[in-house]
Amino acid sequence: MAKTAIITGSARGIGAAIALKLAQSGFNVALNDLNEKSFEGTDIIAECEKFGITAKAYYADVSKSDECEKLAKAVKEDFGEISALVNNAGITRDGLIARMSDEQYDMVIAVNQKSVFNMTKFVSNIMLRQKYGRIVNIASVAGLYGNPGQMNYSASKAAVIGMTKTAAKELGRKNITVNAVAPGFISTPMTDKLTEEQKAKMLEAIAMRRYGTPEEVAEVVDFLCSDKASYVTGQVIEISGGLSM
Ligand code: NAI
Repeated sequence: MAKTAIITGSARGIGAAIALKLAQSGFNVALNDLNEKSFEGTDIIAECEKFGITAKAYYADVSKSDECEKLAKAVKEDFGEISALVNNAGITRDGLIARMSDEQYDMVIAVNQKSVFNMTKFVSNIMLRQKYGRIVNIASVAGLYGNPGQMNYSASKAAVIGMTKTAAKELGRKNITVNAVAPGFISTPMTDKLTEEQKAKMLEAIAMRRYGTPEEVAEVVDFLCSDKASYVTGQVIEISGGLSM
């Protein structure tokens, strides 16, 4: 039986690249995003199915506990098991500290941080019974080193790193590994929003003098979801072209 992976926020960007890569590796993929509209104009489901696996879209706001419970249940019912969970859904609402609103702060924490608790809670419950699982959380270099204008975002991603280590310690004895990746500057719709000035400044700090691609993040996530990474847990792997040395 093919293994199944859930990837949150996977209609586009890094999540879509991860879904495609895991499909290529033989996983059935449960793609999640906010709603039907999120998938408009993409053919990600068909692209995944070209690899001969089953791909299906599930609509849920992963910041909401009840929607995550339904999502985990539906995927288990449809595919019979869940081997991998990739907590990828994330947003930015940047602003300088003095000007950041409570809404900006709370929303980023809810989507980037609470979602990881929600999904890990309901999916690990299934993985515990299977005595097998791979969980990969998409953190960020902002969570390791901070970034001006991102107090909300860096807080959420630093939390994700702590949550990764706690979950790794709690779930390890049941053969469930939990790791995080911390991408640097990856070209996606999220980073398209930055000004040319911000992008040029970032480039200078990257040892490899180029931005990363979603596919380069997906390769590392695929490794962590595979049996090749069977003794790797509680780790944070930077994918940043040497941004932060
Ligand atoms: P993106 O904005 O291109 O895609 C994010 C996807 O998540 C979208 O399809 C969006 O609809 C979905 N989403 C947002 N809120 C959701 C919710 N509440 N429930 C379900 N789905 C939701 O972003 P990108 O760049 O692909 O980022 C993916 C992850 O990688 C995020 O966690 C982000 O913080 C992280 N990351 C991105 C970096 C970059 O340079 N692009 C760098 C470091 C980390």
